[in-house]
Amino acid sequence: MLSALVLALAPLVLGITPEQMLYAPRRSDAVPNPSGEWALFSSDEDRSLLNLATGEIKPINLSTSDASEVLWLGPKSTSILYLNATNDDVPGGVTLWTSDVLALDQKTKIASFDAPYSGLKAVVTDSGDIKFVVNCLAWENGTAYNELTATTPASTGRLYSTIYVRHWSTYLTAQRYAAFAGTLTAQSNYSNSTSYSLSPLKNLLVGIEIPVTRPETPVQPFGDAGDYDISPDGSTVAFLSKAPELAKANYTASYIYLVPHDGSAVAAPINGPNSQSKPAAAKGASSSPRFSPDGKSIAYVQQDGIEYEADRNKLYVADLSGNSSTIKALLPDWDRSIDGMTWAKNGKTLYLSVGDRATSKLFNVPLDADSSFVPKNLTDASSSMASYYLLPDESVLVASSAIWSSRDFYLLGTNGTKTSLFKSNEVDEGLAGLGPHSVSEFWFTGSLGIELQSWIIKPSNFSPNKTYPLAFIVHGGPQGAHSNSWSTRWNFQTWADQGYVVIAPNPTGSTSFGQNLTDLIQNNWGSYPYEDLVLCWEYVAANLSSFIDVERGIEAGASYGGYMTNWIQGHDLGRKFKALVTHDGSTSTLAQLTSEELWFMQHDFNGTLWDDYANYERWDPIRHARNFSTPHFVVHNELDYRLPVGEGIMLFNVLQELGVPSRFLNFPDENHWVLKRENSLVWHNEIFNWINYYSGISDTLDDNAIKQ
Ligand SMILES: *[C@@H]1O[C@H](CO)[C@@H](O)[C@H](O)[C@H]1NC(C)=O
Ligand SMILES: *[C@@H]1O[C@H](CO)[C@@H](O)[C@H](O)[C@H]1NC(C)=O
Ligand SMILES: *[C@@H]1O[C@H](CO)[C@@H](O)[C@H](O)[C@H]1NC(C)=O
Ligand SMILES: *[C@@H]1O[C@H](CO)[C@@H](O)[C@H](O)[C@H]1NC(C)=O
Ligand SMILES: *[C@@H]1O[C@H](CO)[C@@H](O)[C@H](O)[C@H]1NC(C)=O
Ligand SMILES: *[C@@H]1O[C@H](CO)[C@@H](O)[C@H](O)[C@H]1NC(C)=O
Ligand SMILES: *[C@@H]1O[C@H](CO)[C@@H](O)[C@H](O)[C@H]1NC(C)=O
Ligand SMILES: *[C@@H]1O[C@H](CO)[C@@H](O)[C@H](O)[C@H]1NC(C)=O
Ligand SMILES: *[C@@H]1O[C@H](CO)[C@@H](O)[C@H](O)[C@H]1NC(C)=O
Ligand SMILES: *[C@@H]1O[C@H](CO)[C@@H](O)[C@H](O)[C@H]1NC(C)=O
Ligand SMILES: *[C@@H]1O[C@H](CO)[C@@H](O)[C@H](O)[C@H]1NC(C)=O
Ligand SMILES: *[C@@H]1O[C@H](CO)[C@@H](O)[C@H](O)[C@H]1NC(C)=O
Repeated sequence: MLSALVLALAPLVLGITPEQMLYAPRRSDAVPNPSGEWALFSSDEDRSLLNLATGEIKPINLSTSDASEVLWLGPKSTSILYLNATNDDVPGGVTLWTSDVLALDQKTKIASFDAPYSGLKAVVTDSGDIKFVVNCLAWENGTAYNELTATTPASTGRLYSTIYVRHWSTYLTAQRYAAFAGTLTAQSNYSNSTSYSLSPLKNLLVGIEIPVTRPETPVQPFGDAGDYDISPDGSTVAFLSKAPELAKANYTASYIYLVPHDGSAVAAPINGPNSQSKPAAAKGASSSPRFSPDGKSIAYVQQDGIEYEADRNKLYVADLSGNSSTIKALLPDWDRSIDGMTWAKNGKTLYLSVGDRATSKLFNVPLDADSSFVPKNLTDASSSMASYYLLPDESVLVASSAIWSSRDFYLLGTNGTKTSLFKSNEVDEGLAGLGPHSVSEFWFTGSLGIELQSWIIKPSNFSPNKTYPLAFIVHGGPQGAHSNSWSTRWNFQTWADQGYVVIAPNPTGSTSFGQNLTDLIQNNWGSYPYEDLVLCWEYVAANLSSFIDVERGIEAGASYGGYMTNWIQGHDLGRKFKALVTHDGSTSTLAQLTSEELWFMQHDFNGTLWDDYANYERWDPIRHARNFSTPHFVVHNELDYRLPVGEGIMLFNVLQELGVPSRFLNFPDENHWVLKRENSLVWHNEIFNWINYYSGISDTLDDNAIKQ
């Protein structure tokens, strides 16, 4: 008995465990100071300085719970401006401070705000004044909202007369996010001023006409300070807001607005329907407005389709110097979606972050490039870029991650040399031993004859003389990709180190391989991707059986990956697996109308349910419930409004009534994702308990389930 237990636990003590993965430090990106000597980053609550010459790390006394946001700004290259999350005078308010990062005991409070502003962006003017932009929820009349000082109505009732009553994990309330501008006027010579007078903050969204949808920036739920920008001279602010003339529930379009920082004119979109000059095709979602160093241009990306969230992000540069803006498309024919951009200091080149063949890479394009220009990647597939900053000497400070490392910092020289500054897998105890040796890829021919990519992740203690059960993991989206990056939600190495070889394929619908592959999934949720996955499985069985045991395989997926798991359960591929795991998936395509992002289904199923019922019915997993027979673990969370909890309960009800071994795990305080560490630990332990038993890695199945 004892030896069986030891054997069962053996895979857990080698490589990375869920505990080690979940409790390992989580580091932010690293933001360099103006002189390029230091970079500031956080690791959970703590902040540190990274010496960019030596790689040395120096902890500083500036916690993220205390100083919520820090900018490099002020008279010295080590001066900082930061938001302090507490305000002694106004509950729920915040304060603004300055200090020198090398002398944090000498800090000065320079302003007090009566609401929980965040997302600080700021510049210093020639006269030494600080012009800044922040954001906050605001009442309909424009006044910033402070939950702690507002009066709470006696009833919790909420009444709606239009759709989009909730999104992601929150119900819509009367307040919307808005950008607020403020000026701190220096009271004495700037080089030693510590005293400023604060002008009242102005809500820059006030006055925009509202045919249908109220303006809001940052765009919820994932928007942040990257949704707006302040011009280098502080005179103008650009921000992103959804199309005011369209309903939020069924359109994705959004525009870039320009507004004087002093709020002296109403904000106007540069790329909306009535703007003077815009590329005719571009009507969809915009993002990443970024002023050029001289403030005369603004770069941004925009999609074409107004009901599609995964159309190609195309790059535009608007000239702001004339009477009306003119807009130039850069790289119009380059078959890649651009995630964001940064201007070179000389304003003549744009650096781009781009998903390319399952990794986020750095590219650049000169502003005067002609339309046939094809950018070259400046980084490779050995990690996925998370952020990048240009240094004064034009080298680039990159923060990245990989399947084997939660955070790497390195310098990319102008001659292409990579100088590593930090690698978490060489520092963090929990990540010890992880490395590129366990990760590889292969290409297989998909159902449409297209070559498709898949990652292979072996256990850390892999032995070529052993075979390991297959863990086949399907990504969500479906317009998404399994990439060479670290995840605390789907950490492939943690799954592999239970004793599996993980296969993580990128079938039809995947992003980063060109727009055609992404678009081909429209109206084909259960066909091409499913057939691709069958072909991938067959490739593994035929070519990788020297180390992968497909007879003991398991399959898992979340969101669309959960949909696909449910589809697999009803089809032949389901019989190839010993166990399945659906996390917050779609069980019935017809139930998609209980979701909020109606644009999503109406694009992906090519029409509405009432006009194109057959499109929804054709790919509905529940129609194949009669075939459900593989042991199935179901997770679905209460705060998931993207795919409401009823979908998971429907699946579990069906499995139980059919007598299929199954379990249902529910977190009342989690959304589409499991984010809290303690919850995630339970998620991992219960899922691994299930798959390890059915794959034969363990011979016991613990039962922690609540009894009837
Ligand atoms: C660190 O900063 C906090 C908050 O500013 C302060 O209360 C504390 O005394 C500082 N600790 C040290 C060791 O300087
Ligand atoms: C933040 O504000 C609080 C309250 O005024 C103060 O005690 C604390 O020292 C401040 N921390 C920093 C880092 O400025
Ligand atoms: C805006 O509305 C809120 C909530 O009704 C109210 O507290 C606030 O005083 C109003 N602001 C102005 C300027 O009227
Ligand atoms: C500010 O003070 C510095 C010396 O502290 C001086 O060099 C500079 O000329 C002063 N500038 C103004 C605008 O007074
Ligand atoms: C601060 O500026 C004033 C002039 O505005 C100057 O007289 C004084 O020397 C400066 N102090 C320091 C410490 O630089
Ligand atoms: C979007 O919803 C609005 C009502 O909120 C409706 O008038 C419009 O026809 C819908 N458009 C599409 C494409 O579904
Ligand atoms: C703007 O246009 C008007 C009329 O076409 C012209 O007179 C004026 O010079 C222009 N101004 C700029 C800055 O181009
Ligand atoms: C560009 O990407 C390819 C494929 O990943 C890689 O082989 C090449 O080294 C990359 N170029 C640079 C400069 O990193
Ligand atoms: C690249 O530049 C770095 C300095 O930025 C230098 O140390 C290195 O020798 C250069 N490498 C080549 C191949 O020129
Ligand atoms: C694998 O087997 C070969 C002989 O078949 C042997 O030489 C080698 O040492 C074994 N490797 C391991 C890691 O056990
Ligand atoms: C994408 O598909 C279109 C037709 O559907 C074709 O004209 C085009 O060449 C394809 N592009 C690529 C890069 O395969
Ligand atoms: C979507 O519907 C349109 C119009 O009904 C049709 O022309 C098109 O082929 C359909 N697309 C797919 C992928 O089914």
